Amino acid sequence: MTTIVIGMQWGDEGKGKIIDILSERADIIVRYQGGNNAGHTIVLPEGRFILHLIPSGILRKNKKCIIGNGVVVDPQALIKEIEELEKRGIKIDRRLLISERCHIIFPYHRILDRLREEKGVLKIGTTARGIGPCYADKVSRTGIRFIDLYSKDFKERLRNNIREKNEIFKAYGFKGFSFNKVYEQYQEFAERLRRYICDCSVVLNRAISEKKNILFEGAQGTLLDIDYGTYPYVTSSNALAGGACAGAGIAPTSIEEVIGVAKAYTTRVGEGPFPGQFSDRLMAEFQRVGKEYGATTGRSRRCGWFDALIARHSVRLNNLKTIAITKLDVLSGQRSVKICTAYKYKNKVFKELPADSRVLAQCRPIYENWAGWEEDISPIREYKDLPQNARRYLERIEQLLGVEIKIISVGSQREETIFKESFAKI
Ligand code: GDP
Ligand code: IMO
Ligand code: MG
Repeated sequence: MTTIVIGMQWGDEGKGKIIDILSERADIIVRYQGGNNAGHTIVLPEGRFILHLIPSGILRKNKKCIIGNGVVVDPQALIKEIEELEKRGIKIDRRLLISERCHIIFPYHRILDRLREEKGVLKIGTTARGIGPCYADKVSRTGIRFIDLYSKDFKERLRNNIREKNEIFKAYGFKGFSFNKVYEQYQEFAERLRRYICDCSVVLNRAISEKKNILFEGAQGTLLDIDYGTYPYVTSSNALAGGACAGAGIAPTSIEEVIGVAKAYTTRVGEGPFPGQFSDRLMAEFQRVGKEYGATTGRSRRCGWFDALIARHSVRLNNLKTIAITKLDVLSGQRSVKICTAYKYKNKVFKELPADSRVLAQCRPIYENWAGWEEDISPIREYKDLPQNARRYLERIEQLLGVEIKIISVGSQREETIFKESFAKI
């Protein structure tokens, strides 16, 4: 069985928790895009784990984890993540594999990311991890992959890249990098990580032919996708399910299931249009109750009601039939809960997401109002035990999206989850 899990909104939907649950049945868990801009949280009895580059399956014993070729890897961040997990008793060796085709993030990528944010004309509110500049080099064919780190021409290619980037840095008044220091540091990283390197397409296709269960862990979310997100306020990779094929070296026909993860409301970190963003009072309340602070950068997340228009965009792009709804518990105590079903723009009504972020920034949400519920729902484990108004809310979402909600998350812990009967068939 091959299953892709993707985020349906602007990231941070709770993918980490859902992947952790689904990875119980998986043999291999694979990241296929993004990098350490991601922060996937898993709360276990032994503590809270936030994974940035290593697939969330690493927390379950005996599962293999692969960082696919579509991921951009900051080796320093990866080594830190490995060491921190090892310190907490998680075995990494013989369980982690990294594609030899992964592009590498260098210090000049991180600095360029930061300088563009601070001094450029367009502030995206990136995570400043160097993700965009690294993907840009990949597409420009000047990128350096793991396989290149181990080759003779690495020295020359790095020297050229640093020379070129130092020219760009002049325009920002930054002094630039010395080649020797970066070269030596990256040679050390290369040796440290050599034991994990593989051809991920070969490993995965063999596992597929052996009928292994493979779980693909999407990072970010559909609205941050480079092609179908709110461009230019997006990340630099294909966060859609479609990204898994090129990002892991498997064919579209090898994918059997795609599961979407959405929060019971909407959040966004960084800049960019967000119709229906709460005003101060509700924003503060949701940030407090939902602990809406970024798992990677600690920035506060902007919040709003559930937006069925963007969720439908995600259903279409990923052909979703099954979804998981997270953080339903955060809505407890609201007298009424709203769902955005369309946007008003000037005198027009939009049912589909406009491609132009300037237009989106001027859209006003059109809401449906649903009665809320008071009860703390975190202890509930059976769908039928949810308050009637909570079930009505979920059923309205199912109807608006044309999907089945098979998993409902009511707390950050593994057990704080409701599985519909139909979940057994996933
Ligand atoms: P990801 O990037 O999609 O994996 O999501 P993050 O880990 O960045 O953010 C989700 C946050 O919500 C984390 O702090 C989770 O521990 C937490 N979380 C996940 N599911 C639930 C839930 O159902 N209820 C509550 N209250 N918190 C949740
Ligand atoms: P997970 O996997 C939420 C956002 C940044 C910024 C934009 C571009 O945890 O859901 P980048 O550093 O990628 O160039 O930043 O994308 N962003 C995320 N927002 N969750 C994420 O990952 C994100 N990864 C990037 O805040 O707006
Ligand atoms: Mg996150």
